[in-house]
Amino acid sequence: MSETIGKVLITEEQIQQRAKEIAAQIDKDFKGQEILLVGTLKGAVMWMSEVMKHITVDCKIDFVIASSYGSATTSSGIIKIKKDVDTNIAGKNIIIVEDIVDTGNTLIKLKEHFLNMQPKSVKICSMLDKPSRREADLTIDYIGFEVENLFIVGYGLDFDQKYRDLPYISYLTNDEIEAE
Ligand code: IMP
Ligand code: MG
Repeated sequence: MSETIGKVLITEEQIQQRAKEIAAQIDKDFKGQEILLVGTLKGAVMWMSEVMKHITVDCKIDFVIASSYGSATTSSGIIKIKKDVDTNIAGKNIIIVEDIVDTGNTLIKLKEHFLNMQPKSVKICSMLDKPSRREADLTIDYIGFEVENLFIVGYGLDFDQKYRDLPYISYLTNDEIEAE
C-alpha cells in the first residue's frame, strides 16, 4: 500500500520551543533533585533529545522498549517489556518520555511497571497527546501538543518504520490507516 504525507502540522521550531518550556517546568518541579529520563524506543528519541538538552537539574537517561499486543488498530493493554532500564529505579524520580499517547494502554502499564520498583516518583512527558482515542485513565504530566485523531508521523513517529527522520510532525493522508 502506498501512502502519502499530509501538510506540516507542527514545525521543528514549534517543537523546539515547546521542549524548552517543558524543560523549564521540569527544572522548576525538581529543583535541587535528581531525575532519570526514561525514553521509549524508538519513537521518543528526537523529542527526548530536545527536552534533555535544556534541563539543568541533575539528569540521567535510560531507555525501554515496550511492545503492546492487540488488534491491528488498537493496543490491548497487555504490554511486553522487550528491553528494560539498566538503572536501579528505587528512590529515583522517573520521567517516562514518550512520543505519543493514544489509547494510553501502553503508558499506564509502563507506569505501573516502574511504580513496582519503589521509585520516589513517576511522571510522564509526551510530545503528543491524542485524547480522542483515550481508553486508560492516565495523567500526562507534561504534554507537548494535542493532535487530532490522525495517524501521525515524523519527529520520531513512524508508519512501518518510515518517516521517523522527518524534522516536523505530519500525518498519513490514507484514511484507512489507523494507529497501531
Ligand atoms: P497507546 O498504547 O494506544 O497509547 O499507543 C501508544 C503507542 O502507539 C505510541 O507510543 C506509538 O508508538 C504508537 N502510536 C499511537 N498513535 C500513533 C500515531 O498516530 N502515529 C504513530 N504511532 C502511533
Ligand atoms: Mg511509542
